[in-house]
Amino acid sequence: MFGWKKRGTHLPAPAASKDVKIPEVAAQVTGAEMYRASYADLTLGAFIESCSVASVEEPFFSLFKDINLNDGSIAMSFREMWNLYRLAQKIGGIAGDVAELGVYNGRSAKLLCRVKGHKTLHLFDTFSGLPQVSPDIEDFEVGQIRGDTYDQVKGYLSEFSEVEIHPGMFPDTANPCKDKVFSLVNLDADTYLSTRDGLEFFYPRMSQSGVILAHDYRSPHCPGVRKAVDEFFADKPELPVELWDTQVVIVKH
Ligand SMILES: C[S@@+](CC[C@H](N)C(=O)[O-])C[C@H]1O[C@@H](n2cnc3c(N)ncnc32)[C@H](O)[C@@H]1O
Repeated sequence: MFGWKKRGTHLPAPAASKDVKIPEVAAQVTGAEMYRASYADLTLGAFIESCSVASVEEPFFSLFKDINLNDGSIAMSFREMWNLYRLAQKIGGIAGDVAELGVYNGRSAKLLCRVKGHKTLHLFDTFSGLPQVSPDIEDFEVGQIRGDTYDQVKGYLSEFSEVEIHPGMFPDTANPCKDKVFSLVNLDADTYLSTRDGLEFFYPRMSQSGVILAHDYRSPHCPGVRKAVDEFFADKPELPVELWDTQVVIVKH
């Protein structure tokens, strides 16, 4: 719905079904504009929408309110938080730790902490923003997307046990995990090289039926993520499955 007007090309909007009313404003929004729009607005809007179809007493809603409305600044939409939450609930019976590459200020990590049970959560971030970029692929600069410091994130997550934070550039920081297996990995590092490195490290260490979730696969701002995922899985048996809004999920065979 948001790709109708791309790069200045005004494509005609698909005819709406007579039963579905698409607000005029939605038809004018491009993918990039949508991405630039505040996640807070998007998540709040979706939250209000979802209240009409689900009970606000559900644990996810209180978790959402706590992380997004109270703490703020999560770099995921409401729907993306739901996807991560649901997957984290499902992997309880699969052997292996949980990991996240791309922690920022720890909001998605807190979501994982609230659902992971007794599994160990490994968190990887430079805590100084993007460490490497590919200017021919993506429009980022080194140091961009800098979140909270290591100490701030450590303090923010201090109420949770079995959390190991590995500050510095991944995969240089991954050595303590070289003999571990994983049941769930959330890749949210935005760039081509970091996503590729994440896949190369975690994929061989995933348990059977373990899940890799990569954020921004469908984001027009992060073309490197799609490129890295598509290249990596071109010769693998698993089929990357796109989710709404921007994630892609892979279940290890
Ligand atoms: C979009 S933010 C993560 C957002 C977070 N998952 C959330 O939902 O709130 C991307 C993060 O990836 C980190 N990052 C990217 N490549 C990295 C690498 N190779 N090693 C460590 N951190 C990296 C950046 O420092 C940044 O904090």
